[in-house]
Amino acid sequence: MDKLLIRGGAPLAGEVRVSGSKNAALPILAATLLVDDVVTLSNVPHLNDVTTMFELLGCLGVEMVLDEKMHIDIDARNITSLVAPYDLVKTMRASILVLGPLLARFGEAHVSFPGGCAIGSRPVDLHLRGLEAMGASIEIDGGYIRAKAPDGGLRAAHLLFDIVTVGGTENLMMAAALAKGTSVIENAAREPEIVDLANFINVMGGRVEGAGSDTLVVHGVESLHGGHYRVMPDRIEAGTFLAAAAATRGKVKLRDIDPHTLEAVLLKLQEAGADIQTGPDWISLDMHGKRPKAVNLRTAPYPAFPTDMQAQLTTVNAVAEGTGAVTETIFENRLIQTHELNRMGAKIILEGNTAIITGVETLKGAPVMASDLRASASLVIAGLVAKGETLVDRIYHIDRGYECIEEKLRQLGADIQRIV
Ligand code: EPZ
Repeated sequence: MDKLLIRGGAPLAGEVRVSGSKNAALPILAATLLVDDVVTLSNVPHLNDVTTMFELLGCLGVEMVLDEKMHIDIDARNITSLVAPYDLVKTMRASILVLGPLLARFGEAHVSFPGGCAIGSRPVDLHLRGLEAMGASIEIDGGYIRAKAPDGGLRAAHLLFDIVTVGGTENLMMAAALAKGTSVIENAAREPEIVDLANFINVMGGRVEGAGSDTLVVHGVESLHGGHYRVMPDRIEAGTFLAAAAATRGKVKLRDIDPHTLEAVLLKLQEAGADIQTGPDWISLDMHGKRPKAVNLRTAPYPAFPTDMQAQLTTVNAVAEGTGAVTETIFENRLIQTHELNRMGAKIILEGNTAIITGVETLKGAPVMASDLRASASLVIAGLVAKGETLVDRIYHIDRGYECIEEKLRQLGADIQRIV
């Protein structure tokens, strides 16, 4: 099993390009199932989760051709199966996103019921309830979601999510894109990845309005045509590198990122003392060699502070001046990285879903174990700032969501290598 060996202590300095967004690419890849034509996607990140989604689409009969510029031609005209198998769904929960498109275009879908993961139980009840409101009949049988559209196909519905769900909003937006009539989705998620998915559907001839607000209006159309779409940059990868620069008192510039997609993160880093400059497609952060100041934060749906950046800011707080409180409100078990940080000399106590973090001057390198994608990123940041060597184990978690992380960090001056 691969490990990352990090010798910490050097401030990050330099410039990197941000890759395409994992959390935009996955729903957009699922949405290609809606299209009765060839779609060309660009800026798709080279990640394990994306590879898993390719495998899943291939299982369904989708043909994919990758060219030398990493542009991917995707042809979903000849679907041969409506089953998303357990062995793929168990490795990537986002597989549930094929449910809506398969049901909308083919009237039937059998998707293995996604289990929980390290950060929480991750139910999909809101996805299923929304599809039932659109006339689908849904049974859970043998660990599979067996879904069937009514005769004549899914019907438009007026939906209201009682909690904000990114995946639920995406699944129902895709289902509504080909349903009969106009659907309204209230209390919808507002993340930039939702907007990217809506833009993709609209470029292919769909009619999704209000993406980015809490109310979507989706006018169902007969079919979607092909076209080209560039996936948005990954705001969480960008935030992760900014957090690493803040923790190591460095100075970095990130290219191909829209600063408006992570404003809550930039504000928090400025509160921690970072000097942040932005342009239309770049962000620079400079700590002027100073230690970050502790900050308090509370995760919440966009545009508030994203849960996917919580673990990374926990590490910044771990070496900051002062005491900061970090409250995780989205997932029930997403403070697990604090135990490993304490093994590196951090001073963190947990009170329910809040971590009280008393900053220390520095951390001490140690062998640590990753448990989920963003917790792994927080341990890498800890290794970059710690004195001595840190060996991060189980980094397959990292490879799910960060493209060439060690190469990019080396470009920023980090002493990091992958040990196979
Ligand atoms: C997406 O997960 C992201 N994944 C997650 O990123 C991200 O943390 C999360 O949104 C929140 O922003 C992808 O986009 C592939 P939710 P998702 O449905 O859609 C509850 C990463 O690190 N809920 O918005 O699964 C749920 O338990 C990953 O890149 C229900 O109760 O998240 C949670 O408490 C991790 N019933 C809350 O809603 C449902 O039917 C938000 O979950 C659905 C969700």
